[in-house]
Amino acid sequence: MDFSALPGADGLWHNLRLMQTDGSVLPGMCLVVREGKLAWIGLEAILPIEHAELPRHDGQGSLATAGLVDCHTHLVYGGQRANEFAMRLEGADYETIARSGGGIVSTVRATRAASEDELYASAAPRLQALLDEGVCAVEIKSGYGLALEHERKQLRVVRRLGLDYGVTVRATFLGAHALPPEYTDRSGGYIDLVCEEMLPALAAEGLVDAVDVFCERIAFSLAETEQVFRTAQSLGLPVKLHAEQLSDMDGAALAARYRALSCDHIEHLSQQGIDAMKAAGTVAVLLPGAYYALRDTHLPPIAALRAAGVPMAVSTDHNPGTSPALSLLLMANMACTLFRLTVPEVLAGITLHAARALGIADTHGALHLGRPANFVLWSLQEPSELAYWFGQRPVHAIVRQGRIATS
Ligand code: NIG
Ligand code: FE
Repeated sequence: MDFSALPGADGLWHNLRLMQTDGSVLPGMCLVVREGKLAWIGLEAILPIEHAELPRHDGQGSLATAGLVDCHTHLVYGGQRANEFAMRLEGADYETIARSGGGIVSTVRATRAASEDELYASAAPRLQALLDEGVCAVEIKSGYGLALEHERKQLRVVRRLGLDYGVTVRATFLGAHALPPEYTDRSGGYIDLVCEEMLPALAAEGLVDAVDVFCERIAFSLAETEQVFRTAQSLGLPVKLHAEQLSDMDGAALAARYRALSCDHIEHLSQQGIDAMKAAGTVAVLLPGAYYALRDTHLPPIAALRAAGVPMAVSTDHNPGTSPALSLLLMANMACTLFRLTVPEVLAGITLHAARALGIADTHGALHLGRPANFVLWSLQEPSELAYWFGQRPVHAIVRQGRIATS
């Protein structure tokens, strides 16, 4: 993919119905793009004269929104795990499979065996699928290498994807995702390696934008999580957490103490965790794909999050084990249907709040003057249709980083 070969989006995008942050729609709107940035937003009827002669792009009455943001993915990995899908159908559960050498560790084997180019080649079409649905910023985690050279390999692929596809990519180091086989029964030794060697080296190479940990009884303890957070803090990197997915580990409260950008999954989140997240401004990232694929029945505490005013984001959590999903709009539908998010909540959850969960809300997740042009024109009548249809791709046009990226 050569992003720089795509046509520039500079010009007057008119005949739009623009979705506002509260989910309402303004007709007769236009967006002016100059040098790849949003230079004017407003009613076509009062377009300033200096923009009147620009090349025109007729939106044909389509609905315009900010580009979507997918704030939690594990997009770069080797192999796939359809065998575990089959095993779960025969009655095995995620924890049992993980404890018996499958799960994350089986993807670690396949990822270690793959070259950087092979990982790139398998991840690229997955990224393209997200982009084709209007995603303009995406987070991609490491965590299937679990050794310096293999985590580096994954993160280098993440950086290359961002450059080649002209999409904002945030790279999250998830070295503390699972215990690699060579450290069996030596969890402390592995966390020392993560903190003393892997994370400092990868951060120094400019490969890390944030740090995540899987805090869970089949992964890492609260104390181990804190050790990683302290290292991240000393390196000036923001943290996130896979928190309370299978059990309440009190991870969210710890993450909030480190001013985490987000706590993700959170099916078993307590009121204490919610209060701590609210106080710290931490975003709750909901992952209905994993909830669905694991046939989980323990709902995240949506009503309590709503009552506390914790911002909620929604993401694909694309990964080969628990969420082989490549549609953020399907996740939006599932967040409404399974978790009972309202339409305005879910629309904020795949735009503004997702951008907050990545620390990029100053450039993504909403349309503002001066920002790089990232927007989507949809062949839809009203915003609720974004969450209503599933299995469709109602895209009319995509402008990503100032270029026309519609496939
Ligand atoms: O977000 N929960 C931990 N990590 C991933 C699953 C990874 C895997 O099973 O490969 C998740 O669901
Ligand atoms: Fe995840």
